[in-house]
Amino acid sequence: MTEATPFESMTALARANVAPLSPDQVRIMRKDIQRFLLQYEFGLREVETKLSILRDEFLELHDYNPIEHVSSRVKSPESLLDKVARKGLSRDLEAIRAHITDIAGVRVTCAFVTDVYRLFELLTRQDDIRVLEVKDYIATPKPNGYQSLHAIIEIPVFLSTGTTAVTVEVQFRTIAMDFWASLEHRIYYKYDASVPSRLTEELREAAATAAELDARMARLHRQIHGDGERLV
Ligand code: GTP
Ligand code: MG
Repeated sequence: MTEATPFESMTALARANVAPLSPDQVRIMRKDIQRFLLQYEFGLREVETKLSILRDEFLELHDYNPIEHVSSRVKSPESLLDKVARKGLSRDLEAIRAHITDIAGVRVTCAFVTDVYRLFELLTRQDDIRVLEVKDYIATPKPNGYQSLHAIIEIPVFLSTGTTAVTVEVQFRTIAMDFWASLEHRIYYKYDASVPSRLTEELREAAATAAELDARMARLHRQIHGDGERLV
């Protein structure tokens, strides 16, 4: 889910901030935004490294890979600007830093629900990570059926100019949850948010079916491999 951060949109974001600006001011602001977004890119890399270390260590210790897939993206300047407008925030970068917590996003897809919670624990208990917020949409799915475990974390990034704490949204989910969320997103995109109620109900049922499938596969996995306690 990599989003491009094209040069033109950086300029658009810079221009939109305070108008009118001199070309020099635009250049400086573009540099600031570039540096601002780069910090989020670094935050992503730190989280990705932690996840890949956990995966490799798990494989070595238990001959088992708890992670199916990891994807990450930094929000594009356009999408960031949209959210700033939606939330009625000032376009000041520090205000954006404080109020928008999903500029950097990582999605961790696991095979089983137990792996989702295990990975969440293993990542969030690390000393250098500060957990700002957790939303457990697996324990309590959204009314539309959406399930995932969300954590907003802060991770230090060590730059030549000093250490900076970067906020990253990490979404943990199973393959079945990811399948549902991807298709639901597409359906909403197509219908432009005005989904007929019959379809809404079907989507909720489909989410329940996905959860059943998760439970069923987990049962099968336990029957073959035991309860997996040795992995904890
Ligand atoms: P946003 O302002 O959209 O970020 O929502 P929020 O701040 O209330 O946070 P929440 O934890 O509810 O959702 C954050 C992210 O989770 C979204 O940007 C999506 O990636 C994902 N998400 C949340 N709800 C849904 C949903 O109903 N369907 C799908 N497909 N994804 C969702
Ligand atoms: Mg979001």
